[in-house]
Amino acid sequence: MAQHFEIRPLPGPLGAEVIGLDLTRELDAKDFAAIHRAHLDHHVLVFRAQHIQPEHQIRISKRFGPLQIHVLKDFQLPGYPEILRVSNIKEHGKPIGLGDAGVFWHSDLSYLVTPSLGSMLHAQELPSVGGDTLFANQHLAWETLPEELKARVADLQAEHSYLTQYETLRERSPWRPKLSQAQIDAVPPVAHPVVRTHPETGRKALFVSEHFTSRILGVSPDESDALLKVLFAHTTKSELVYRHQWQDHDMVFWDNRSVTHLAAGTPDHLRRKLYRTTIEGNVPY
Ligand code: SIN
Repeated sequence: MAQHFEIRPLPGPLGAEVIGLDLTRELDAKDFAAIHRAHLDHHVLVFRAQHIQPEHQIRISKRFGPLQIHVLKDFQLPGYPEILRVSNIKEHGKPIGLGDAGVFWHSDLSYLVTPSLGSMLHAQELPSVGGDTLFANQHLAWETLPEELKARVADLQAEHSYLTQYETLRERSPWRPKLSQAQIDAVPPVAHPVVRTHPETGRKALFVSEHFTSRILGVSPDESDALLKVLFAHTTKSELVYRHQWQDHDMVFWDNRSVTHLAAGTPDHLRRKLYRTTIEGNVPY
């Protein structure tokens, strides 16, 4: 049965709130189509007041495509391999989740041949201070790139690797697990276009990120470093960014083909726990 809900665009470069929709109920075709359209138009949807269980998050995620399993299996929600726990909480001295997920700008799972279409992140436990997530609109990043830079990067490919920042992260967060050879073998580097085309809207977007892009292919290392420095700064300019301040029971659904995101950080002594699902997307072109 159709539900009564409202989609309220947020001021700024992206985002909309979804008010009054209950994701414990299965969406009918019309409501699903409205959410799908809003996701394409606004890139980040904030579903307020979702008192959902893991099963509901998995069900709504699967409406958009097959789900991806994160290579760090240690941080799966027990019984739900599709859910990655994003959390700084430690139980019996062991982290229950990935506490430093998203501390560099990135698009989820861009290091795979088929990066994520989108991700859903559901708030379980929020800190009283901090814990925001920032999203930057990569269509606007492309559209506002100076013309000579557009011409330089339009046909370039870049390498994405899960390992790009892994050791840096381990130095900062010693609890981050050392990867086994099997895990390393599961995430070989891949090449993706620097400028991708959104498969559903046809809009172009910049597709590089500090977290996973290791180099630009087919240019000298110096030129690669110089181009990436300029692109990383451009893709995260403040005018492209929406800062999400989490409210209890928010469920945020972002389009990894249109935005990059960053976890702004949580003071160590405050607890933060969210459940993340990732939906498989297309091979970027
Ligand atoms: C993520 O990158 O998926 C997590 C973002 C966050 O913790 O805010």
